[in-house]
Amino acid sequence: MTDKIGILGVGSFLPDKVLSNFDLELMVDTSDEWIKERTGISFRRIAEKNIATSDMAYEASKEALKMANLKPEEIDLIIGATVTPDMLFPSSACLVQQKLKAKNAACFDLSAGCTGFIYALVCAYEFIKSGMYNNVLIFGSETLSRIVDWEDRNTCVLFGDGAGACVIGRVNEGGIIYKLLGADGTKSELLYIPAGGSKEPATIDTIRDRKHYIKMNGKEVFRFAVSIIEEMVKRITKESGCQVEEVDYFLPHQANMRIIDSAFRKLNIPIDKVVVNLDKYGNMSAASIPVALDEVVKSGKVKKNDKIMLLGFGAGLTWGGALIEWGI
Ligand SMILES: CC(C)(COP(=O)(O)OP(=O)(O)OC[C@H]1O[C@@H](n2cnc3c(N)ncnc32)[C@H](O)[C@@H]1OP(=O)(O)O)[C@@H](O)C(=O)NCCC(=O)NCCS
Repeated sequence: MTDKIGILGVGSFLPDKVLSNFDLELMVDTSDEWIKERTGISFRRIAEKNIATSDMAYEASKEALKMANLKPEEIDLIIGATVTPDMLFPSSACLVQQKLKAKNAACFDLSAGCTGFIYALVCAYEFIKSGMYNNVLIFGSETLSRIVDWEDRNTCVLFGDGAGACVIGRVNEGGIIYKLLGADGTKSELLYIPAGGSKEPATIDTIRDRKHYIKMNGKEVFRFAVSIIEEMVKRITKESGCQVEEVDYFLPHQANMRIIDSAFRKLNIPIDKVVVNLDKYGNMSAASIPVALDEVVKSGKVKKNDKIMLLGFGAGLTWGGALIEWGI
């Protein structure tokens, strides 16, 4: 059996409904010009009322399974990365298992903010490496439109809905070459939802005070994001022995074009090596990386043996990176 572990299939799902900056101009005191200049975002997708996180994850997962040429019952484990599960429990992974009829899979969700997909990727890798499982389905799926305060112009212009999924298993060529995870819980209040958990359950007061929505210190998160991208690229290249020049694509979490520009300019990495789709979808938290990966793979740009570096960062604060050699 090969000792290499990598991506066997990838898929994504985006809701049809598009919300433009001009639509937002009618909702809050903002402008297309401001949003584009400060974030690079023009559009985001919004899930219809009857669609929840597990529905989008199911669609993305079906595509990933098809590409991997695997049946749902061949999946041993499903890991869902999301901050917007359908409900607090059961996990969205269990709900996706039900929809897929992946009856042989163990299931759990993990919460690592926008880094969730990288955390899921590393978990999948380690479960396979240990010999416990062969095929693991991971998804990043978010219905952020349900936790965004549509009266807060500081945050509502940034986020969107969508899902991406990958099947991870043993590969003959390439695979996951290097990975890292990190967190700094002392900065948890830079990006969080104050109420709705055990600390502050829902009451009339928490609803009145809009405490069930995303709260963010944009400036601090921005600073953190730029420095952690730089730090991760340096660490991954140093510790994996892969030179920056040997990486074909850098795929950072899609939060803000200015974050991406600043970080890669500091690193002297040409922007045409960076995968960017945030103009179309905004920040989809744990879904951003797998959706962008699916797009770049399906566009035909990624060739066998290309090296792709995934770079995640987000609430927690958390961060995580992975260097992958494309093997299919
Ligand atoms: C949120 C963010 C775009 C704000 O950009 P910024 O350049 O830092 O802007 P500031 O916060 O300094 O705000 C500047 C002004 O624009 C205003 N402003 C904020 N949002 C606005 C909007 N949507 N439209 C118009 N004006 C807006 C502010 O109120 C402020 O006005 P003031 O000077 O009168 O107080 C930026 O900080 C950011 O992207 N941070 C990272 C967020 C992120 O990626 N989070 C997720 C990480 S996983």
